[in-house]
Amino acid sequence: MHIIHITAEMAPIAKVGGLGDVVTGLAKAALARGHFVTVMLPFYECLPKDQIEGLKHECDIEVPKGYRWDGEMRVGPLKTSVFWGRVQGCPVYLIKPADDTNCNIFRGGRIYGGSYNEMEAYLYFCRACLEYLHVTQQQPHVLQLHDWHAAAASLLYWDVYNPNGYQRTRLMLTIHNLDNTGETRQDEFYFTGVPGENFATIDKALDERTIGHNPERLNLMKGGIVYCNAVTTVSPTYANEVLNGGAAGWLRSTFARPELRTKFHGILNGIDCEEWNPATDPLLPANFDADRPAGKALCKEFLQKGLGLEVDPRKPLVAVVSRLVPQKGIHLIKAALFRTVEKGGQFVLLGSGHSDPAFRQLADGQFKDHPNCRLKIMYSERLAHMIYAAADVVVVPSMFEPCGLTQMIALRYGAVPLVRRTGGLADTVFDVDGPAGSPSQQRNGFVFDGSDDGALHGALDRALSLYNNQPARWAALQQDNMRLDVSWGKSAKSYVDVYRSISA
Ligand code: ADP
Ligand code: GLC
Repeated sequence: MHIIHITAEMAPIAKVGGLGDVVTGLAKAALARGHFVTVMLPFYECLPKDQIEGLKHECDIEVPKGYRWDGEMRVGPLKTSVFWGRVQGCPVYLIKPADDTNCNIFRGGRIYGGSYNEMEAYLYFCRACLEYLHVTQQQPHVLQLHDWHAAAASLLYWDVYNPNGYQRTRLMLTIHNLDNTGETRQDEFYFTGVPGENFATIDKALDERTIGHNPERLNLMKGGIVYCNAVTTVSPTYANEVLNGGAAGWLRSTFARPELRTKFHGILNGIDCEEWNPATDPLLPANFDADRPAGKALCKEFLQKGLGLEVDPRKPLVAVVSRLVPQKGIHLIKAALFRTVEKGGQFVLLGSGHSDPAFRQLADGQFKDHPNCRLKIMYSERLAHMIYAAADVVVVPSMFEPCGLTQMIALRYGAVPLVRRTGGLADTVFDVDGPAGSPSQQRNGFVFDGSDDGALHGALDRALSLYNNQPARWAALQQDNMRLDVSWGKSAKSYVDVYRSISA
């Protein structure tokens, strides 16, 4: 089948979190199964061009775009450049305005939060992707749209490019997170070159488009849910929380509609087992796997030395690798930090994003030069690999988690995951003290419910006690975990099944 992904992230060149990992991992898995897969990505100014193989300018096209002019929106063409290359073997189109000097879209030193208007940039990007496919007469079987950044492509596709439904391409929306659903004013939608009011009359289904008290706003994720042929999210439990729990938030009434519920699927993410392979990982000082686990101890020693921690193989090393946003359970990360140090363990945090300043204060104050704690407030792919390889326990205490990849990477790197039971964490981590009769191979970590410090302490104390008092059982647990299948294998097949089910 021919699949094209439209996305704001693609690892490793444009990664902020798991979205980037998933796009690359799923694309590679489908390519390996013989499908024809391409990714369309904004050509952010900050992309590392040396990591894009065979990068070349493909063509320039004119993309219809709305502009604000004397307080009014008007449409005109924006000359747009399309580049082509490969990232880890996966073909990618990179898209940006041709004239960088007049247009600052996608410019700046980082992926999100540059100096440009993000809503304008992604609405333009959606239009540009469809326009390029149109002028080059490409009709993939499926366009897979990721999160709100790409969702507007579904509205434009049926409104502008395929109003009669003659073209074969069908659409899938993949929801990675309902925390940000992309709300825009109706007049802003005109950045696509199409008035937002169109969607009030074209399809009665969008009658419910208004959110809160403001009838002027469109919700792009909701548009994607209504206009795509299939909607997926990234784990079965999160899918259930969206349909039947509170996870849908403002979109609760949308997900209550029977015709939308039936096209909604929860497919568990995998991880890219080439990228995340402790047996070959070039970023590690020593490699290891379930059959040759010795290298893990060397990685721990290397990290302890490198971060200036006390070098002690017997001290349990507890780690967190995370964006620092409320979703990730900031107060529970802090609770894990204090409890670990209090219990004589070591704690390492690698945290990115606009954290509440407390971690920085702790890093520069109480825990500065602490022999058993390092708080690194930064994004570093290299350090992340090192930490997974060195850690004994990886804590993921999220308040909600559509899937979560860190706990799966931890399993593969022999670090035992400790998680709050929610979303995809509940689908991938099963407590070592789980119900009698559950297969022992499945009992791979520590799980807690509740959201207070005490709940986390209970699980962490059990983990530290097992680590300290039963080293042979701990080693067996690590080795069993490293053998678990966390690859894209099964899930890529589930995606292909859904692609087929919507194909024209
Ligand atoms: P989310 O997408 O919500 O951030 P996931 O668990 O799905 O959560 O994916 C997080 C990905 O981002 C993982 O690959 C993780 O290793 C990586 N990551 C998170 N924070 C950092 C950081 N500060 N530095 C390097 N990698 C990070
Ligand atoms: C989102 C979610 C995370 C998920 C990732 C990839 O960022 O927060 O749970 O694993 O997307 O799908």
